[in-house]
Amino acid sequence: MSRMEAVDLRNRTLLVLGLLPLWGCGEPATECMAVPANGECPSAAEASDTLLGDHCGYTVNAVTGEGELTEVPTWDTGAGQGTREECCYPTLEAVPVGTSCVVGRPYIDATGEKVAPARSGRGWARGRRPDVRRLTAAERAVLAAAWTEDALVEHASVAAFARTTLELMALGAPAELLAGAQAAAADEVRHARLSFALASAYAGREVEPAGFPVGARVEVNADPAAVAAATFREGCVGETVVALLSARAAEAASDPAARGLLALIARDEARHAELAWRTLGWLVRTHGAPVRAALAAEVAALRERGVRLTQVTSGAPDAVLAAHGRIRPHAAEEVRRAAVEEVILPCVELLLLQAAEGGAEDASAGATA
Ligand SMILES: [Fe+2]
Ligand SMILES: [Fe+2]
Repeated sequence: MSRMEAVDLRNRTLLVLGLLPLWGCGEPATECMAVPANGECPSAAEASDTLLGDHCGYTVNAVTGEGELTEVPTWDTGAGQGTREECCYPTLEAVPVGTSCVVGRPYIDATGEKVAPARSGRGWARGRRPDVRRLTAAERAVLAAAWTEDALVEHASVAAFARTTLELMALGAPAELLAGAQAAAADEVRHARLSFALASAYAGREVEPAGFPVGARVEVNADPAAVAAATFREGCVGETVVALLSARAAEAASDPAARGLLALIARDEARHAELAWRTLGWLVRTHGAPVRAALAAEVAALRERGVRLTQVTSGAPDAVLAAHGRIRPHAAEEVRRAAVEEVILPCVELLLLQAAEGGAEDASAGATA
């Protein structure tokens, strides 16, 4: 029995006993999936196979009832446009600490990952447009949705770096780290504008972000260990993976606009990842043991859970998606493995080893002094 099957069995037992909410399986929520060809929603048990598990930014722990055909908003409903029918099920969902989709540095708060809604508007899209003449309406719709999603995450990264700047200031970080965070925020504005330009071209109308749902208050973390853990997850892991994914997608893209944007994102995200590693190095040197412990826990979690990739785009022929910058699933998986095994784990382990040796030397120096 796989771990997922065991978790599913436990949840069903707890559900029968009315104890599921007490297990900490999360908050009541709704999860939807595409309507099958026969037009009928699968049973809750069948739907569990598709819905349970990690999604981008949250985990569906249980499907607690039968599904219903429901009109759900499509990506562009910030302007109140577009719905489609899906099978929606009551669920219990949780936001595990530190989870996110890998598409760049996310903005995460206590309720999960945040992005602005999209709306029609001319304020943001700026940059080279793809050639959409040979695409069908369905292919354009798929590409519009995918690039809009990416554009919104790039836009959210601006907020993420704004908060990073405040956290670094709270911790008394050196000037070059602050300058790096500010420059990275400006990079993310550029990524968002260029991504909205692509999305607008595929959509056939101008798309931009509405107000960012920052909420009434922004949590700024001034605990070095927590900042180190978030920096590792969101910068060292998230931005390393997205840099490599973008580079691979750029190689496969034949449309000049998509290719150019992805090449730019790959270069910038590699620089953002370097900034995250430099930040981590500074935190390890200046705050010692608690930061090392937090990082060791992150490494253990990464080994156990791995990295969850952006939902890979589907709904159009692979060759069309690749030509317009959407990475193929097998390539994404290869990149993910290489990022974790060739870059992230060796680097963080060396950093921890060096810090531990430094700590041991300090301790022995202290003992002989
Ligand atoms: Fe970005
Ligand atoms: Fe970034």
